[in-house]
Amino acid sequence: MIIKHIKEIQQLSDKLKIEGKKIVCVPTMGFLHEGHLSLIRNAKDLGDTVITTLFVNPLQFGPKEDFTKYPRDLQRDFELSKDAGNDYLFVPEATEMYPDSFNTTVKIGDITEKFEGVSRPGHFVGVATVVLKLFNAVKPHIAVFGQKDYQQTLLIQKLVQDLNLDIDIHIVQTIREDDGLAMSSRNIYLSYDERQKAGLIYKALNQAKTAILNGERKRNVINGIMFDMLNIENEITIDYCAAALAGSLEEPDVFQDNADIVLLVALKLGTTRLIDNLIVNLNN
Ligand code: PAJ
Repeated sequence: MIIKHIKEIQQLSDKLKIEGKKIVCVPTMGFLHEGHLSLIRNAKDLGDTVITTLFVNPLQFGPKEDFTKYPRDLQRDFELSKDAGNDYLFVPEATEMYPDSFNTTVKIGDITEKFEGVSRPGHFVGVATVVLKLFNAVKPHIAVFGQKDYQQTLLIQKLVQDLNLDIDIHIVQTIREDDGLAMSSRNIYLSYDERQKAGLIYKALNQAKTAILNGERKRNVINGIMFDMLNIENEITIDYCAAALAGSLEEPDVFQDNADIVLLVALKLGTTRLIDNLIVNLNN
């Protein structure tokens, strides 16, 4: 069932709670792929009623980004989400989410000030604001997000912690194509040739991971391994390849032997911006 209005979804949530249902929310911008569907399947395992939200959030796109051309297909998304076990699809209008009088945003410190936060000014304010609004509309017990957007998962966890939101956050691992390319709604922008090259991102992440597992601890060497592998393709413009401490995103010159390290890559392949990451846990 598709629900369009905030009041309607709030009332539905209240009713479900009276019935004793555990509500799980899956926020998305739609054009669903296997990554999103795996979040929905996980959500179904975690609770009773799954509410997927579908909203291409204008607030998180920069002026030169792909908001207007972002792929949209509501009917397809409705069918796919239903087949994956979704119960309700919440699809608000931008005019209801952001009426002319709208004048409040949510800004999270430190962890949003690097990597994506530098490359996409304003992006994380848009994400934090919309996610809080979606949480207040859906009022879930649990919300599910993908590791694919690693920095976003840190932001959501900080939002919940700092603002005392009574919601459990569940993170689901990245779903990939056969060649390792992380699934993304934006992969549809890639030309045939670009798509052939896109598998290199996962290879570069894994090459750096192997080096770490073989004992490499120097951050600039690890970053260089990813950079050198990605830099050979003319069509690729690297934004960043970076190793950082998982959780804090701090960047020590040398990692400790028990560090949990996240490898982060953002680049443009032709005109399409792609991000990916891999976590290397040394702490176990
Ligand atoms: P969107 O890019 O549509 O992603 C929705 C959710 O799906 C996010 O939690 C994202 O991390 C997850 N996801 C995307 N690709 C994935 C993959 N290959 N494997 C596993 N999970 C994947 O992220 C957003 O939308 C927005 O910023 C949003 C949180 C909805 C706020 O507008």
